[in-house]
Amino acid sequence: MFKIVKEILQLSNGIKLLNNKTIMKKITIFLMVVMMLSVKAQEKTLAPTPPMGFMTWNYFGVDITENNLKEMADAMVKNGLVDLGYNYMCIDDGWQGGRDNKNNIIADPKKFPSGIKELADYMHKRGIKLGIYSDAAPLTCAGYTASLGFEEQDAKIFASWGVDYLKYDYCGAPSDAETAKNRYKKMANALRSTGRDIVFAVCEWGDRYPWEWASRSGGQLWRTTADVRDKWASYAPTNQDLHREGAGIFDIMNANASLSGYAHKGAWNDPDMLVVGLYGKKGPSGDLGGKGCTDIEYQSQMSLWCLMSAPLMITCDIRTMNEPTRKILTNKDIIAIDQDKLGKQAKRVVHKNGWHVFLKPLANGDYAIGILNAKNKERTYKLKLKKIGLKGKYNTYDVWTKERESNLLSINKFVKSHETLVFRISKIK
Ligand code: GLA
Repeated sequence: MFKIVKEILQLSNGIKLLNNKTIMKKITIFLMVVMMLSVKAQEKTLAPTPPMGFMTWNYFGVDITENNLKEMADAMVKNGLVDLGYNYMCIDDGWQGGRDNKNNIIADPKKFPSGIKELADYMHKRGIKLGIYSDAAPLTCAGYTASLGFEEQDAKIFASWGVDYLKYDYCGAPSDAETAKNRYKKMANALRSTGRDIVFAVCEWGDRYPWEWASRSGGQLWRTTADVRDKWASYAPTNQDLHREGAGIFDIMNANASLSGYAHKGAWNDPDMLVVGLYGKKGPSGDLGGKGCTDIEYQSQMSLWCLMSAPLMITCDIRTMNEPTRKILTNKDIIAIDQDKLGKQAKRVVHKNGWHVFLKPLANGDYAIGILNAKNKERTYKLKLKKIGLKGKYNTYDVWTKERESNLLSINKFVKSHETLVFRISKIK
């Protein structure tokens, strides 16, 4: 670098400058920074908007087979979900069949007789990317073969199969943050050196504040809380309590809302899967009080997750989903708020008396506003827009009822218990 600078200066007759070491050093540092920035600018953003798709865990648990994944994928295409942006099929825990005599990780031959590569091809032909799952320890959370010590080998195999997304769990690993940072970095580097674009999803459940380091360790998204249960709330005060008592939609929203400053384009807080449409089906989200939610609560989850720029991973049976579930999952207007190009997670601007108001700036200058009534009774709420920093008058569009109103200084609405209203508002010029 130093040499190059010297040559450039010689060419431009900067002989005097050449003898000044401090100036030379400064120029060198400046050029290095310019080069680093241009390399960074060329780097591909792997998840420019929060990933959307289907994740097997809360519906299937470990009872996954290539046939039921193909059926889900077909349903995703048929129901128009793929066109709406749900374009990942993520295999969670339970796919592994151990390692062969060369230590290559293999899929369970009973569950996946045609192999993962064939499954990836099936998905890709339908415009769907394939996600897979492993863990930064010898065994996964459900006790299957995991990747510690085999990071490069596993990453190469995943890439050769055509995998596009890796959820990397943390069961069985030491509890300190330093080890977590290193183990995630190791797998992220292994994925990058395969040359394939593979989204890396950090899953250590928010216990080591991953919002502070996961992006630097190579993750595009990081789980922020204990696993979601199919319930509204346990109201447990800390993440450790939530692990024990089960985290509901409200609990997770409450924890994730305060992390808005950490999310940005290509780096997302992940408040776990959508439990929309599960209705208390027994399975991984059915324990610890996961007895199911009302459609109002499921709609609230969709609203809050989209306001918070969360990854949207469906985990109910989309082959047989009912009309309310279909309406919640396929609402284009709420999806557009989640996927907005600006990539800003909503800030919670009111948190008082069981009212939670969210404000999310959008790429075209509009704002999305969410109003959650967390109390157990229906109430009316008057939101003066000026109070949350929005001067002037606004036209509003209710993304759920599709009602439009104009020239508003405030939003005055009746809100059911556990309901979240969402408006897209534009300032009148
Ligand atoms: C952990 C994760 C879940 C799921 C299971 C699988 O609990 O947080 O999302 O992946 O492991 O065993």
